[in-house]
Amino acid sequence: MILETIVTTQSHLGVVHIAPMGIHVMDDGTRLVMPFRPSTTLENILATGCAVLNHTDDVRVFAGCLTGRRNWPLVDSVKVPVARLADSLSHVELELTRVEDHDLRPKLYCKVTHEANHVPFQGFNRAQYSVLEAAILVSRLQMLPWDKVESELAYLRIGLDKCAGQREKEAWGWLMEKVEAHKNGMDGDNAVELTPSPNGGRSGWGQSIDGETTDFTRPHPNPPPLGEGTGSLNSTALTDGGKHT
Ligand SMILES: Cc1cc2nc3c(=O)[nH]c(=O)nc-3n(C[C@H](O)[C@H](O)[C@H](O)COP(=O)(O)O)c2cc1C
Repeated sequence: MILETIVTTQSHLGVVHIAPMGIHVMDDGTRLVMPFRPSTTLENILATGCAVLNHTDDVRVFAGCLTGRRNWPLVDSVKVPVARLADSLSHVELELTRVEDHDLRPKLYCKVTHEANHVPFQGFNRAQYSVLEAAILVSRLQMLPWDKVESELAYLRIGLDKCAGQREKEAWGWLMEKVEAHKNGMDGDNAVELTPSPNGGRSGWGQSIDGETTDFTRPHPNPPPLGEGTGSLNSTALTDGGKHT
């Protein structure tokens, strides 16, 4: 099973890094972290031997990390010297046990040293799913054909429109701002980077390894019916409330 989490790591100098990652949960409880090179998350885990998985239903953190809003409140963890998100439903502290090196995507096997629940699970929400999937699309904008991005977003917009609360609308707005910039040619190689990432956007995330491609490169199995979800990409106000950088 793969869980979409927010991974917090720290450099040797104590600089905290926050990144969304899909983490494999193995049958024996081992967590497998698979960052594409180059990756600050990878460097930090190799340097310190630990990481924290933050399980949150605040999808603004996922969207925020992809749009230059990485300044989320942090607190100390219990067993590992890595900060965790202050506002998560639960978190899992990890120690690195084994590395399977790879030119593009190394495998970092980790054992759980501590886990804690903070807030009860609130139930499933379709708009949160929409934002997560849109975040993945946004993270690969440079690799995907525009018509694919557009049709996937139109489908995701259905669940968003029906089920979103304020947090989901805000997160969607941030992502659509980036999509619009990409569409207008402002987010390409020759343009000013709107949302610089610590690795300069050089991550190989989403590339094919041994014929395995990430799932958003396949056609959508369930395209939106005509007339639904085909409106403007973003009618949501872009409000930051001054909370984030
Ligand atoms: C839901 C979601 C899951 C992701 N999973 C991964 C992953 O498993 N591995 C990866 O390298 N990047 C993944 N990404 C993209 C990274 O968050 C992004 O490329 C980030 O900048 C990673 O590089 P960093 O470690 O230097 O921050 C994911 C993005 C999203 C939105």
